[in-house]
Amino acid sequence: MADISRRSFLKSTAVIVAGTLASGKVFGANDRIGICVIGFNGQGSSHIKDILEKPDQAEIVALCDVDQRVLKRGVGFVKSKTGKEPKAYEDFREAIKDPNVHAVTIATPNHSHAVITVFACKAGKDVYVEKPMSHNIWEGTQIIDAAKKYGRIVQHGTQSRSDSVLIRDMQLIKNGFIGKVVHSRGYVYKNGNRHAIGHGAPGNPPEYLNWTLWQCTSPDRPFLKNKDFPDKPGLYVHYDWHWFWEYGNGEIGNQGVHEMDIACWAHNRGLPVQVYSTGGRYGWDDDAETPNTQVTTFTYEDGSILSFEVRNLGSFQEAEGGDCGNSVFGTDGYYVRRKGFFDYKNKPIPVNDPLPENLDKWDRFFRAIRSRKEEDLPVTPLEAHISCSHCHIGNIAYRLKRSLEFDPVNLKFKDDEANKLIKRPAYREGFEPIA
Ligand SMILES: NC(=O)c1ccc[n+]([C@@H]2O[C@H](COP(=O)([O-])OP(=O)(O)OC[C@H]3O[C@@H](n4cnc5c(N)ncnc54)[C@H](O)[C@@H]3O)[C@@H](O)[C@H]2O)c1
Repeated sequence: MADISRRSFLKSTAVIVAGTLASGKVFGANDRIGICVIGFNGQGSSHIKDILEKPDQAEIVALCDVDQRVLKRGVGFVKSKTGKEPKAYEDFREAIKDPNVHAVTIATPNHSHAVITVFACKAGKDVYVEKPMSHNIWEGTQIIDAAKKYGRIVQHGTQSRSDSVLIRDMQLIKNGFIGKVVHSRGYVYKNGNRHAIGHGAPGNPPEYLNWTLWQCTSPDRPFLKNKDFPDKPGLYVHYDWHWFWEYGNGEIGNQGVHEMDIACWAHNRGLPVQVYSTGGRYGWDDDAETPNTQVTTFTYEDGSILSFEVRNLGSFQEAEGGDCGNSVFGTDGYYVRRKGFFDYKNKPIPVNDPLPENLDKWDRFFRAIRSRKEEDLPVTPLEAHISCSHCHIGNIAYRLKRSLEFDPVNLKFKDDEANKLIKRPAYREGFEPIA
């Protein structure tokens, strides 16, 4: 069943385009890969630090951010570590033209991931794109197509895919270690950084921020200052954009996409045929739109289910103090992430299989860039698209407040209003991510 839905899904998204050979530079074992990190107020600064720790493999040759303060800080940081000043760009469209840049890493807000990825592929650059790689379902199909069409390596920022324990355990599940998987479950109880974010008030963007480029794919909207947190650059900038549908995907598409990706990896049924999602933004008074409490269920063609819970109020006594996780229930036993496999008498099932090689996400990305083989990636663009689409499909059901039927072959809902949310209704001119 899993293979059938995967095949029809492949067909449906027309990702089987004529195989194009990788263009551009072929790397020898000793060549360093030139990197431009795009967007680095938060996660992108980890990209910079991580990559600087692998000087034998890669070099940061350029940095790009639409916030001049962030840009200056990043350039200074790289120079202090390497003695060399990376090229500074405000506009990603210029950065991807730089011949010294072989690959980009993207840690901008979600609504700009797909356009930067697709444009970078077109410019002959390989891409590490933070999760979720798409802001809507349609964008994911464009990324898959762009990677194929331009022969580029595109790695999704769900780093759990590089975790050797998970790689082994997911293979065991696929091989039937707990029988047939009937229910995959993901949960996020995080509350760090999650709180009432304040209220907006009209105002001018700070002079250090290019608001037009920050909006990127999104048509012009007024800039909003933050009345309650005046030290923040604005209501959306930085980080709090996660909680507005125009730019973010709520918690299910923030931390949640990590656990959703693991849930889909274990469940391995492609896309669902039905979804229901409900919840709200409880207990907080602010202007944000996305729920802080959300329960979503997906049903697949074979009747199996995937359920996902988001709770940002900090219920840490659940999951024994953990703030996110996964459980997978098969016909013969179950799996709990970080605990292992159990039978239904709750007796642990010992695992004797060895762990696969221990390579982090960057080792895997650089290896794939050198080999040009998609199979060297820890997660393919198609697998990433399936996981991200679950977040998008769940959010569409949440926003419409009704159960929806989905056609996983034609990537359409049986609901006209829901279909309007498959793609952004309007893209800023020149920023549409068409492969
Ligand atoms: N893999 C992980 O564990 C992980 C962890 C945290 C965040 N993330 C992801 O990283 C991304 C960034 O998150 P964050 O918390 O750092 O957000 P943030 O808002 O703090 O930082 C985003 C940065 O991108 C810059 N930016 C915005 N638009 C840009 C554009 N068009 N071109 C260039 N720069 C632009 C902003 O100025 C800012 O410096 C998100 O997609 C998030 O989901 C992943």
